[in-house]
Amino acid sequence: MIHRNLPIAAFLVSQSILAQFNNPLAIPPALDVDTFQLVVGQHQHQFYPGVNTTTFGVNGPYLGPTLIMHQGDTARFRVTNELTQVTNMHWHGMHVPGVVDGGPPREILPGDHWDLKYEVANPAGTYWYHPHPHMITGAQATKGIAGLIIVNDEEEADLELPRTYGVDDIPIVIQDRYFLPNGNFAVAPYGDSVLVNGTPHAYLECPAQVVRLRMLNGSNARIYPVGFEDGQEFQVIANDGGLLNAPVDRDRIWLSNGERVEILVDLSGLEGDSLLLMSYGSELPQTVPGSNNILWESSSLNGVDFPLLRIRVTAPTASPITSIPATLGSSVPIPENQAGGTRIKTLTGSGMVGMGMFMINGQMFDLDVVNDTVLLGSTEIWVFQNNSNMAHPMHVHGVSFFVLDRDGIPPAPEEAGAKDVVLVDAGETVRVIMEFNHLTDDWPYMYHCHNLMHEDNMMMLQYIVIDQNVGITEPTIATDLQVYPNPGNSFINFRSSFPVDNIQIMDQTGRVVHQSRGSDQYIGTLDVSSLGSGTYILQIRSGSALVRKIFVHQ
Ligand code: C2O
Ligand code: CU
Ligand code: CU
Repeated sequence: MIHRNLPIAAFLVSQSILAQFNNPLAIPPALDVDTFQLVVGQHQHQFYPGVNTTTFGVNGPYLGPTLIMHQGDTARFRVTNELTQVTNMHWHGMHVPGVVDGGPPREILPGDHWDLKYEVANPAGTYWYHPHPHMITGAQATKGIAGLIIVNDEEEADLELPRTYGVDDIPIVIQDRYFLPNGNFAVAPYGDSVLVNGTPHAYLECPAQVVRLRMLNGSNARIYPVGFEDGQEFQVIANDGGLLNAPVDRDRIWLSNGERVEILVDLSGLEGDSLLLMSYGSELPQTVPGSNNILWESSSLNGVDFPLLRIRVTAPTASPITSIPATLGSSVPIPENQAGGTRIKTLTGSGMVGMGMFMINGQMFDLDVVNDTVLLGSTEIWVFQNNSNMAHPMHVHGVSFFVLDRDGIPPAPEEAGAKDVVLVDAGETVRVIMEFNHLTDDWPYMYHCHNLMHEDNMMMLQYIVIDQNVGITEPTIATDLQVYPNPGNSFINFRSSFPVDNIQIMDQTGRVVHQSRGSDQYIGTLDVSSLGSGTYILQIRSGSALVRKIFVHQ
């Protein structure tokens, strides 16, 4: 019986002692349908008996169904917003065009819905979906809007891997939450209760054979060094963007915010035994959220080792997987010499995990500013150089990338596959390489820190992908910017319907060859005499960018 006047924290402490691993792990339902109907709504849920927590969920009180997708198919969705606030939905890790990417520019108003579809281009792997509305992503994700996506493909289907969902192929969404005295969640960087798939003190019955855990760090800011209590080894088979080429033996794997990893654990012969899946927070350096850095927000989970999930081993299934394949996928990292250009992304700022002010290249998120223009089909190296006081999990929309190196050292094998989030520690420089294969049209992609507190606090910028071969002139905005003469040889004039504050000319590889201030004029003249003959991209900006193709004939 709960005493309403008892502070809930005290209640939770005693409850946690009494109820260690007494709750069967919730397994989100898996949907494998032509059209995913996702209804986002507000609910009440009891994570702890007798304690009502207001939640947001997808088709249910907390989290959402696991969406099963097939490479090459068209996935269709209707996302319905039954909240009383704006939301949207982003398909994290999925290679989809900007118009369906579901970043902050996309808004689903209360009572409204968004119908969309895209071709499933990604290889087999574990991806996820979550809302991404301007400045309230953390608040909505904290309340429970998120779910997993499992993509299947032929290559993966040919491997002898566990893939019976909920039996030997288990979704593991790791989150920490802070419960307020009234039972509701605090929107905070850290919690002091661990939820796995929304279950506190979760246990899972697993058959005595090889099982596959698909883990996602769905927490706002905490980073988890995951491993088994008794040092039991496991094999990492996939990370963010799909299968590794071969399993990697490990007893620890770090999961930063938004990252996924698939591991295999061989439970053969362990029937009747039980294993603890742990987070070894004591191993985190002071610069990494989740450490016991005394200058940052406190939480009873900081800097300590704590259990995530107990696995109780039961009898094997009728046709168990009992061995681990020696080889897996066939993805080939993009060679460095294929990059047409390099962009440096310097991370600066300092502060606490939830309250810091952090920037990328000295800029903060502005819905009306496109920060980078990238050419369709181009390959680029992006260099994340962290000059701030803490580690940031950096994420890029619309692509998977390969880590080239960390401070010049090639990535560990478990980090060598395709990824879309990379943790960049304070003082560290991480280079990634990626190819841009989808257009953004009028819907820019984001790149940002996946610490949701930082992201909402503007540690996010936008980029567009344009096709230089197909005119980039949008009929609806054509009259907003005239460029003449075009082709030009020594100068090109522009006339815009808005005061211009920034002008950039890029060459065919996306390299900036001219940059100037527009002095807030409606007209201007650009000296192009030093540019060689060819096709360039002129980007004129005041707030949002207008882009035109220009030709120089010398
Ligand atoms: Cu999980 Cu902008 O994304
Ligand atoms: Cu994303
Ligand atoms: Cu950050």
